[in-house]
Amino acid sequence: MSKEPERLNVAVIGLGMGRHHLAGYHKYARSRAAAICDSDPGRLAQFAAECKLPPERCFSDHRKMLAAARALDLHAASVALPNCLHAPITLDCLKAGLHVLCEKPMAMNARQARAMLDASKKARRKLMINFSYRFMPQTQALKRIVDSGALGDIYFGRTAWHRRRGMPGLGSWFGIKAQSGGGPIIDLGVHRMDMAMWLMGNPRPVTVSGSTYSVIGPRVAKEHGKTFDVEDLGCALIRFDNGATLILEASWAGFSEKREDMVTQLFGTAGGIIQRNTGEGYDFEARVYGERDGTLWDSKLQETTFPVKSAYEEFVDAVLDDREPLATGQHGLDVQLILDAVYKSGATGREVRIAR
Ligand SMILES: NC(=O)c1ccc[n+]([C@@H]2O[C@H](COP(=O)([O-])OP(=O)(O)OC[C@H]3O[C@@H](n4cnc5c(N)ncnc54)[C@H](O)[C@@H]3O)[C@@H](O)[C@H]2O)c1
Repeated sequence: MSKEPERLNVAVIGLGMGRHHLAGYHKYARSRAAAICDSDPGRLAQFAAECKLPPERCFSDHRKMLAAARALDLHAASVALPNCLHAPITLDCLKAGLHVLCEKPMAMNARQARAMLDASKKARRKLMINFSYRFMPQTQALKRIVDSGALGDIYFGRTAWHRRRGMPGLGSWFGIKAQSGGGPIIDLGVHRMDMAMWLMGNPRPVTVSGSTYSVIGPRVAKEHGKTFDVEDLGCALIRFDNGATLILEASWAGFSEKREDMVTQLFGTAGGIIQRNTGEGYDFEARVYGERDGTLWDSKLQETTFPVKSAYEEFVDAVLDDREPLATGQHGLDVQLILDAVYKSGATGREVRIAR
């Protein structure tokens, strides 16, 4: 972009999760959803009608859209595609001069993630990863509490997302390793891991010892005549350069107590926090623990009073105001290095050292 526009014209590629990106750009005064792309003609037609976009702004092939980027005055793109397409299509968008908000996980592996980060630097374009749990008001409130020093130095954490049964779209790309890169560790674990690491101040991961299991997924998939070749449960112990340790757990299937069970707990030298879902769904509660004048206390977070941006607003603001977004490509790469290490450790049975 030669001159920063007043309003960012964003193309959304992939209209599953991408429909939330569309709504986000549509709602925000500083952006507009200027083009859409999906290889599924039904989805494309549905959102073309809903967004009242003319045919010249609707594409089934992202290459044709990028070829028309200048004519359409596109500034940025949201990549909300199956994981195997994050890297190649992000690279195409960056090459076409667009800033990119890419869905989590950043890529299939750290090699791809690094190529994306390098390309964004070379093209001088912003690259943000949609670690959406950071953008919940409650998470931002916890971040403020941690940053105020209330926990002291954080030395231990556990972060988990378990489902009793919840393989997304059984038989879809999610359960096929060549398209997803992995199962619940790369799909759900990514959210909880990023959230914990962000609250911890993004220390540098140095070693990972992990295990992966595929116990229930293959049996259930077989019963339905579907393919499933990823883990259905994974866990890891991650050590950081500041001496802190994080335990990560994620599953799509297992005999867990709750249908949906999420928790992130951090222990510091002066206090602790816990954030977890309630009612086996997507409502969350959070508490802070401390000690004052010889008494241990805890308090529950109620609603926040400060304004919180959506991920889409944050991306648009970062581009228009020419600053780093809250969730950077580097954070995406750090998470991806750990994911690679969990899978490698699970396959070899050995601790993996992370080299940068
Ligand atoms: N941040 C979050 O909270 C969150 C939530 C859900 C999904 N996601 C992520 O979003 C991504 C997409 O997941 P989903 O649930 O929307 O999957 P999905 O399969 O429902 O949607 C993907 C869409 O991409 C389209 N598509 C596939 N190949 C294409 C191509 N070459 N060109 C154009 N369109 C193509 C498909 O037709 C489909 O409409 C994944 O990486 C997933 O991890 C993130």
